[in-house]
Amino acid sequence: MRSLIALVIAAAALGGCRGEPSRLPPVHLNPNMDTQAKYKAYGHSNLFQDGRTMREPPANTVQYGLGKVDDEVYRGQDEFGNFISRFPMPLDKKLLDRGQERYDIFCAPCHDKSGNGKGMVAQRPGLVPPPTFIDPADANGRRIIEMPVGEIYNTITNGKNTMPAYRSQIPTEDRWAIVAYVRALQRGQNARLSDVPADQQGSLK
Ligand code: HEC
Repeated sequence: MRSLIALVIAAAALGGCRGEPSRLPPVHLNPNMDTQAKYKAYGHSNLFQDGRTMREPPANTVQYGLGKVDDEVYRGQDEFGNFISRFPMPLDKKLLDRGQERYDIFCAPCHDKSGNGKGMVAQRPGLVPPPTFIDPADANGRRIIEMPVGEIYNTITNGKNTMPAYRSQIPTEDRWAIVAYVRALQRGQNARLSDVPADQQGSLK
């Protein structure tokens, strides 16, 4: 037994710990998952025909965070940071209908379906009523009628004072659709008889 221990000690003394550099990996008795088969960046791979480990990104891939470069569409601002007054996309009935649907869901609870600011939330005692979009006698209404569309888009996106931001709930296109519908509400509530097509004026006179 003694000679066996002496042998082990001698083997250990001769076999290692002699201060010499070694190219072998250190003895790793319990490797767990420390070392696994894997590809390293710029390494070689037999799996792919071009022999490379790293793959080309699929065509038209946009790096995360580098999309949304169009300031007008995504921020409602021109290149100088001013709010735009024209819609950055063509307006059509489909967009307006979508805007109406989304407005009634997201905005009407506070701003009312008509935009007069007297939605159910605003009617609760103790809450300041949201401003109206439309009432010409109301300074707030006039201000929002004259507000550039980019600024209304910005209010929906980022909120304003007590109004919450809707950028994570309402996608960009829908936000513009809502702005278009807000414009329709303003126009509708301030319409004159001459705005109605002549053949439909009869019942309104
Ligand atoms: C939870 C209630 C609430 C909801 C929902 C809401 N708003 Fe508002 N909104 C407000 C309040 C309150 C203000 C007034 C903020 C302030 O103090 O200036 C306001 C202000 C505004 C203004 C005027 C901002 C300004 O510069 O004065 C616009 C435009 C507007 N909201 C549009 C919308 C649209 C469009 C939606 C739907 C996407 C919407 N809001 C949803 C409460 C709400």
